[in-house]
Amino acid sequence: MAVRSETKLVTLKIDGQEVTVPAGTYILQAAEIAGIELPNLCYQPLLRPWGSCRLCTVEILGPRGGLIESCATPVREGMEVSTTSQKVVESRQFILQMYLIDHALDCPTCDKSGECYLQDNTYLHNINANPYRRPKLAQPYRHFSKYIDYKWDRCIICARCTRVCDEMVGVTAISVVGRGLEASISPSYGIDLADTTCTHCGMCIAVCPVGALTDRHFAHHPWELDATETICGLCDGGCTLNIEHNRGLVRRVSHLWERGANLGYTCERGKWGHETVQSPERLYYPKIREGNDYLDVELDEALRVVVEQFRHYQGSSFAALVSPDATNEEGYALQRFTRAVMGSNSIDRLLSRAQAEVDSALFDSFGVGASTAGLSEMRSDSNVVLVAGPDIGKVAAVPSYWLYWAHRYRETQFIVVSPDQFPLADRSDRW
Ligand code: FES
Repeated sequence: MAVRSETKLVTLKIDGQEVTVPAGTYILQAAEIAGIELPNLCYQPLLRPWGSCRLCTVEILGPRGGLIESCATPVREGMEVSTTSQKVVESRQFILQMYLIDHALDCPTCDKSGECYLQDNTYLHNINANPYRRPKLAQPYRHFSKYIDYKWDRCIICARCTRVCDEMVGVTAISVVGRGLEASISPSYGIDLADTTCTHCGMCIAVCPVGALTDRHFAHHPWELDATETICGLCDGGCTLNIEHNRGLVRRVSHLWERGANLGYTCERGKWGHETVQSPERLYYPKIREGNDYLDVELDEALRVVVEQFRHYQGSSFAALVSPDATNEEGYALQRFTRAVMGSNSIDRLLSRAQAEVDSALFDSFGVGASTAGLSEMRSDSNVVLVAGPDIGKVAAVPSYWLYWAHRYRETQFIVVSPDQFPLADRSDRW
């Protein structure tokens, strides 16, 4: 957490350990800074505190003390907090027993098994039996979309999914409908998810602490997978992704919360773009055109043909265009090839007309064809943001999340200049 020099600091004690944090920090976050991990179900970094599950309960010691949810209670100077008192442990055990009355407990067939917060906390809090019980109710899976399944009897209505959809992705495609035991998550207005503004980012699945919202393309247990951290190359956002794989195949992208430029959040391309890696529609061999036919050939043969053909176009008769999907490294390699091997300086990036105009306006204004501020500054420091060009939710989705976030939490204003109407334009101060 960055602390500005003018930020007021507060010192408190958590489990006897002194910790100093900026005023306004919640107890759960202060505990994290002190290296104490508190259990939670409805807390999600960057989303507004919800305080509904109460699993993060701690005890404030002293005359004005008592049990309180740590994720939604700001620290006070001199506060003393216990995260492990008997009262705290017993209240968490009671809360878990309440959840377990109605929870499906179909862990062996649940994708979330092994990384489910409810499962982990049931184990950690030593819940072996439940004195509270009634007949379990069950409902079949609901297929929300080609990506998303919903299992009602696993849902704990923590609203992480609906909050991320509204507060971060900015589309409110799903919401909580009904009350009490009949409450469920549903596409907004009860319509088909395909008819909402859903962007298929999968963030609702990513933040679900139990297995209520699951990925229809994933059918593994987390312990079967190895992980490799990488940077997404599918837009300019530079998001950190956690690629999980086994037996030589990519199985899913998971989320490293509070890491990288994206702090764990992803868009549709980040979440499911990996499927192109093993798509059956990929080319397995280079192709050479002969007349109207394309023939599969070995790589050596393709390279031989390229060398033979390119030989005739050295110097100014050669130009290269880099795909906008290419990584910096690929673009660098191509420009080296164009200049050093082909002897031409004619190299450019393939841009849509709108992108080219934005690049040129940036160049005229700032001397570089790119933003002069980092993405994190847009989220944490900006008062007004000017968004020019096409739907940022499509071309750079995660940066658009920071706009919604800054708008909601810091009252950052944003102005959208675009001929197109899209969700960010609808929520802007001026379009
Ligand atoms: Fe604090 Fe749910 S995590 S109330």
